[in-house]
Amino acid sequence: MVAQGADGGEAKNGSPIVIVSNRGPVTFSRDDSGTRTYSRGAGGLVTALNAVSRRQDEAVWIASATSDEDARVAGESREEPYEVEDLRVALVEHDEGAYDLMYNTLANPLLWFVQHGLYDLPYAPSLGDDTRRAWEEGYLPVNENFAGAVERVLESSSRGGGEPIILVHDYQLYMVPHFLRERLGDAPFVSLFVHIPWPDPEGWRVLPRYVREGVLRSLLRADVVAFHTDRYARNFVRTAREVLGVETDEEGGVVRYEGREVWARAYPISIDPGEFEELAESDAVLEQESSVRDLPGKLLLRIDRMDLSKNVLRGFQAYGRMLERHPEMKEEVTFLAGLQPSRGDIPEYAAYADAIQKAVEEVNDKHGTGEWQPVVLSMEDNFPRSVAAYKAYDVLLVNAVRDGMNLVAKEAAVVNEENGVLVLSENAGAQEELGEFAISVNPFDLDEGADAIHAALTMPEEEKKRRAEALKRQVRENTIEKWVEAQLKDIAAYREHHG
Ligand code: F6P
Repeated sequence: MVAQGADGGEAKNGSPIVIVSNRGPVTFSRDDSGTRTYSRGAGGLVTALNAVSRRQDEAVWIASATSDEDARVAGESREEPYEVEDLRVALVEHDEGAYDLMYNTLANPLLWFVQHGLYDLPYAPSLGDDTRRAWEEGYLPVNENFAGAVERVLESSSRGGGEPIILVHDYQLYMVPHFLRERLGDAPFVSLFVHIPWPDPEGWRVLPRYVREGVLRSLLRADVVAFHTDRYARNFVRTAREVLGVETDEEGGVVRYEGREVWARAYPISIDPGEFEELAESDAVLEQESSVRDLPGKLLLRIDRMDLSKNVLRGFQAYGRMLERHPEMKEEVTFLAGLQPSRGDIPEYAAYADAIQKAVEEVNDKHGTGEWQPVVLSMEDNFPRSVAAYKAYDVLLVNAVRDGMNLVAKEAAVVNEENGVLVLSENAGAQEELGEFAISVNPFDLDEGADAIHAALTMPEEEKKRRAEALKRQVRENTIEKWVEAQLKDIAAYREHHG
């Protein structure tokens, strides 16, 4: 299988495809008998990139080694990619200290917070030596390590085909295009897909100069910089113009940099609906159903990583406010919050987990009755239970401060059996596709949130059905294959355009 041409047909040159992301499609371990085993990575990005990988038998996926056994596989895959199921993976082992600085100081607090607008700017961030060290001794070496792995994979590739297509993913790897060009020159096609929001230029300027300019200059060495929404792509073009003073065509989504043309494009990521339909009928999910369906009253649901960007606290506050304004709703609804622990080594995340527990206690103490607990909190990674809850919810709350896309909204819509209503933040990327069938909310406005939850819980059946069916249709129509096709088509168009 080879890359597709602009007409949807196969490209003539059979370019090898290399996917690069921090998290990989599989994590290796050893079972009790000492035999190597693996588990497939969870999460939307993995599903989406699997769809890319399946497009070409010889596509290689490069990712960080995150376990001891991964490190062994990393050693073995230095010469030749490691084959697992239908995938070919090459894992990269990083220096532990460097990876820690990249992940826990530079990428997750700093870039993540800037791009999701999470800083309380009168107080944070205070940038100093720590940030510079995390950049120089963490982010840059880890990114360079990835570029080295790409070079090795391409050297060992047996294909004699055309110039490689290198698809780099996300904010942990912004400097990879820079290091790739240093090693491989201009010939390979390089794209970087940003899976999180891109802020306006003022937001980006919170970063220290060496990061804000360094990242932009690296991204502009890619051929395409991709996002989930048009708004993020436009913000990126404006940021490049205002921060670097480069020439841009905002309408056309083009930045001109050092004699080259860089395209900023939007490809709204999707899910594999079939995979979720199948999962919904699996034994693991069916076993969990009663635990979800037996909760009293209607089911108000949220499923999120425990991340500050998800706006979990205001979700509980808005719900509490709804119960204050509509005491008749007491015992008529239960709010199930499934929150998977995430990034616990970062102090802000640890503090957030505590704040969540307190907020839940407050609502439960204030509004609970002997018989009824208004909020049921589950702080564990229980995917089958989440899918069981997707099937059963009456209202799904997605009130993110900002979110690149939010795949929960899509996954849940496909398998829901109750004509459930989506309450959706106007700052989630999913708003561009799903907003017209949801109740959209300003995630900061507790009154609006309370009204939206109430309206969703009391919506007439016919209206619920109309919206739920439209949501399902929308998600099923924008398949993950279309997401891949659109990118491959643009790659062919870009190459044609640039001779
Ligand atoms: O795009 C955001 C992302 O990188 C997703 O792939 C994933 O949902 C999440 O962040 C995971 O974060 P982490 O790799 O830090 O657990």
